[in-house]
Amino acid sequence: MKKNNIEDQILVIFGSNGDLAKRKLLPAVFQLFLDGLLAKNFIVIGAGSQEKDELTNRHDVQESLKVFANKSYTEFPEKVNLFLEHVYYQKVNNQTETDFELLKNYIENLSIKLDIKQNIVYYFSIPPFLYEVVAANLVKQGLNNEENGWKRIIVEKPFGYSYDSAIDLDKKLHAGFNEEQIYRIDHYLGKETVQNIMVTRFSNGFFEPIWNRKYIDRVEITSSEKIGVGNRGGYYDTSGAMRDMIQNHLLQVLAVVAMEPPAIFDSDSIRNETVKVLQAIRPIKAAEVAQNVVRGQYISGQVGDQIQNAYRQESGVAPNSKTETFVALKILIDNWRWGDVPFYIRTGKQLPERVTEVVIHLKPAPHQLFKQLCLTEPNNMIILRIFPDAGVAIDFGMKIPGAGFKVQNVNMAFHYSDLIDKKISEAYERLLLDSMVGDSTLYARADAVKASWKFVDPILQAWKNDPEIPLYFYECNTWGPNESNMLFGDKFIKWREPFSKFKTE
Ligand code: BG6
Repeated sequence: MKKNNIEDQILVIFGSNGDLAKRKLLPAVFQLFLDGLLAKNFIVIGAGSQEKDELTNRHDVQESLKVFANKSYTEFPEKVNLFLEHVYYQKVNNQTETDFELLKNYIENLSIKLDIKQNIVYYFSIPPFLYEVVAANLVKQGLNNEENGWKRIIVEKPFGYSYDSAIDLDKKLHAGFNEEQIYRIDHYLGKETVQNIMVTRFSNGFFEPIWNRKYIDRVEITSSEKIGVGNRGGYYDTSGAMRDMIQNHLLQVLAVVAMEPPAIFDSDSIRNETVKVLQAIRPIKAAEVAQNVVRGQYISGQVGDQIQNAYRQESGVAPNSKTETFVALKILIDNWRWGDVPFYIRTGKQLPERVTEVVIHLKPAPHQLFKQLCLTEPNNMIILRIFPDAGVAIDFGMKIPGAGFKVQNVNMAFHYSDLIDKKISEAYERLLLDSMVGDSTLYARADAVKASWKFVDPILQAWKNDPEIPLYFYECNTWGPNESNMLFGDKFIKWREPFSKFKTE
């Protein structure tokens, strides 16, 4: 990770006692501290609804680090206390205006006492309905004012619930903050392996010439999870896989796979290219939804020797819920590079493996010279593995040694784990650091969020309005409804079954 001349600053985390802060944000800040990447003069202020003093808060943070930053916590016990000296706390009820006045005074006093300039990143790690409330309360107290230091806000997903609500939220945030100050986080863009898609494509001479409709038959993007919704049923039941995974993470991955090379590598140029992809996605009309989008919901099934709950039995989920826990869809991108190349995306919970990968299926050689002698159908694929066993693999046909010309599919793979001494940073470390140095390249811009909602919204509307569109049920520990294979429109093509490792056996 880079270490620019990072300015002295304050990170304020709204919702600092919540799950995200404990699991991801505080461990990420701690890791940045261990790596010496934070500003010399840096503090993190927890802003939570709980009443507690600074010592208790430091103790709570320490407990979170013990659990969620486990490895670095035990490796560097002497650093924990040093880190905790940078941790502060102010009780803030997000809906109480006067609490923001208290927050303002608290920040001002600390900034004088510790001689820190009021460069502030505000992290909204709070329920989405509070984003506009907190933004408005900050503005009322002038806490967005940049005279005494820059101010940035990081907004978690979901950014809006629909196209209209996303636009509305954007308007409300822009009432007090300009676009350069708004960081819409999508942790998929912070993944090292997603960024590597750009490097694989644009720093090598041999991928890009074939990265188009002439050589690529189809692209598959899979993000599967082994677990169900757990204790997030309340949130998930109002969201579903389309809003939770496709509208943001997977459309962003698609944009990185399909974008044109930017002329220069800076935030605007990259985001200008990714947004063009999202804007070029062919809309799916209500009447086409059933053919192009398959939704599913998990029902009870066996995993190991345990019977898993059906989605409708999970806590916080309506007993007759129609919320999708699986989506597979076919996307076409109407531009010069991708005309008629289908992109298939699927995501789901309670599937057999936890895997995220992009598979580029190349067209077969124009003349199949060895067809009769193939042991398996040669399958030319480029696999960009995001998780687990991150890396890149190429599958192609090879001659089996010996007499004749028998061909078999083999696999050549690079694994990140082979890079000695290089740890892959957590997405949140990278993204937090980027926001601290003012680099928004890996954050979603307003126009991209708008474009992806524009595509997703009509599908959600069709599901809501047309009871004829089926919701398929699938058993836990299966790859979702079989109907997801019908998207290929060819009985010989099926979704690739990803394994947790893609190492050549
Ligand atoms: C989150 C979704 O944004 O991403 C979760 O809300 C999902 O439902 C998670 O489990 C997946 O992220 P990752 O990094 O584990 O693939």
